[in-house]
Amino acid sequence: MGEICEKTIWVTGASSGIGRALTLRLAKHKNFVIASGRRQQALAELQKCSPKRIGILQCDVADDDAMDVVPERLAELTDHLDIVIACAGTCEYDDGLRLESAMYRRVFDANFFGVVNTLRIALPLLTASSSPVFAALSSLSSVVPFPRAEAYGSSKAALDYFLQSVRADVCNTNFKVICIRPGFVDTPLTARNDFKMPTLISAERAAKYIEDGIAKERSNIDFPRRLSWPLRFLGFFRFLWFRFCAPKISRIRTLRKD
Ligand SMILES: NC(=O)c1ccc[n+]([C@@H]2O[C@H](COP(=O)([O-])OP(=O)(O)OC[C@H]3O[C@@H](n4cnc5c(N)ncnc54)[C@H](OP(=O)(O)O)[C@@H]3O)[C@@H](O)[C@H]2O)c1
Repeated sequence: MGEICEKTIWVTGASSGIGRALTLRLAKHKNFVIASGRRQQALAELQKCSPKRIGILQCDVADDDAMDVVPERLAELTDHLDIVIACAGTCEYDDGLRLESAMYRRVFDANFFGVVNTLRIALPLLTASSSPVFAALSSLSSVVPFPRAEAYGSSKAALDYFLQSVRADVCNTNFKVICIRPGFVDTPLTARNDFKMPTLISAERAAKYIEDGIAKERSNIDFPRRLSWPLRFLGFFRFLWFRFCAPKISRIRTLRKD
């Protein structure tokens, strides 16, 4: 397993789940981690675990105006960033194809525009590093279209494209852009799921996969393989997904509302 050490790293979504496990793991490996989230109390609790290695910066990545003041607060903590890992995100399902635009906007604000904001704020500090890395948490749900995931899956598919487009833009520089696609990870986000989650792994295991992938400079970090490989196959032969998988997962049996 590859290890990252003695870097300055900004992790968003660090107050819970994957981001929290990642912050603790990176701090243990002698990095200085700036941990972000909206809940100050959860961040303060996290900092207590490693006060010298963890700095905290409360922010709402989905709030464009509030993010504009973040550079000043980041500058109080560091003069550069080697790695940024954008973990902040949310999930809401569209049950019964209600297509409420407010819900879609909430999901896109956190999962897509939140990452755009994070990169905008981080870029000047990343350019001060000799080997800058920007990584963001997409999802294996972007590989095949899951029922009820119209908002979540679309936001992650848009994020995949965004990251690859940025990668294309900076391909003549030393800036590395990484797309991370986890399968099911046991966190407060998935605790709300009311279905069986195949190949569920712990947040600590996910953090290990992510650190290893970044240390090895992988462009895409998909895990676990026992889920990512079958999904990639079904993503390629999509007719099989629609013929055999989607009908089993879909909860809609009729379009009639009565
Ligand atoms: N768990 C999975 O199975 C799974 C699978 C694939 C991808 N992912 C992705 O992995 C990322 C982390 O998910 P998780 O499972 O660890 O979920 P989680 O435990 O719910 O953590 C989500 C984190 O994002 C932060 N956050 C949400 N909205 C934010 C906002 N507007 N501004 C700032 N921070 C915000 C939350 O902190 P505050 O509430 O304090 O703001 C929290 O720290 C997400 O992008 C998710 O889509 C998760």
